[in-house]
Amino acid sequence: MKILRTIAETRAARHALDERCRVGFVPTMGALHEGHLSLVRAAKEQCDIVAASIFVNPTQFGPAEDFNKYPRTFEHDCELLEKEGVDLVFAPAPQEMYPKEPVTWVTVESLSDKLCGRSRPGHFRGVTTVVSKLFHIVEPDVAFFGQKDAAQLAIIRRMTKDLNFPVDIVGCPIVREADGLAMSSRNTYLSPEERKRALALYHCLLEMKKQFGNGEADCAKLIAAGKEVILQESSIRLDYLEIVDADTLDSLQSVTGNALAAVAAFAGNTRLIDNAFLVSA
Ligand code: PAF
Repeated sequence: MKILRTIAETRAARHALDERCRVGFVPTMGALHEGHLSLVRAAKEQCDIVAASIFVNPTQFGPAEDFNKYPRTFEHDCELLEKEGVDLVFAPAPQEMYPKEPVTWVTVESLSDKLCGRSRPGHFRGVTTVVSKLFHIVEPDVAFFGQKDAAQLAIIRRMTKDLNFPVDIVGCPIVREADGLAMSSRNTYLSPEERKRALALYHCLLEMKKQFGNGEADCAKLIAAGKEVILQESSIRLDYLEIVDADTLDSLQSVTGNALAAVAAFAGNTRLIDNAFLVSA
């Protein structure tokens, strides 16, 4: 597995590949867990060459957010990626990606202000800017993103379409712990007590799915039922609970085929997200 630190080295490695190779790309911020590895495995299955990136992207963190304390486990991440048979890892320093204070941004208007974008202003602008840069540097044929960041996935799909990136975007299912908690690099912040309470996010989605299964299709009623579950866990502070169209992220009045229930909440100081399609595929 080649570890590449500069844009020039990465471009050279990419251009040295046989042009018939289908290159799969898994962008990450490191602190890898089974969720990331599921993306790598999907890339291995669908592509000839797998490239990953490890870059904690400063432009997607707000000033009061956890950029400095975000877990950095580079050696361990590389061991995991090597075991999975990854071919190339692009792991630039912040200075390599942003030698100057950036003034050029990629923004997917309207979608970027919804769900997490409402609570984290500027977050998705940072994501779409860095993903555009990574696409230009790695030049993948296919890129893999987790469904857990459902808004990110919808926004990247839209950006890729609107800017004609020749990249297929593949969304991969959420990977959960045995008890249902969605895997996240931020779960390592949780105390044992917060870890238990954090399950309320998953349970609220299960309740909404159950009520929908029992015939309730009114989104306001389903949201109220989900909120009840969160309210029972007094130490969990809800940020949002919405039912949206998974492509446009617009709020829905009643459940359609593409309806996604999405939740964000704080367990202690840790902000967690989760989501579920209401209509099973
Ligand atoms: O999902 C993430 O880990 C990040 O938002 C991404 C896509 C790697 C961009 O920094």
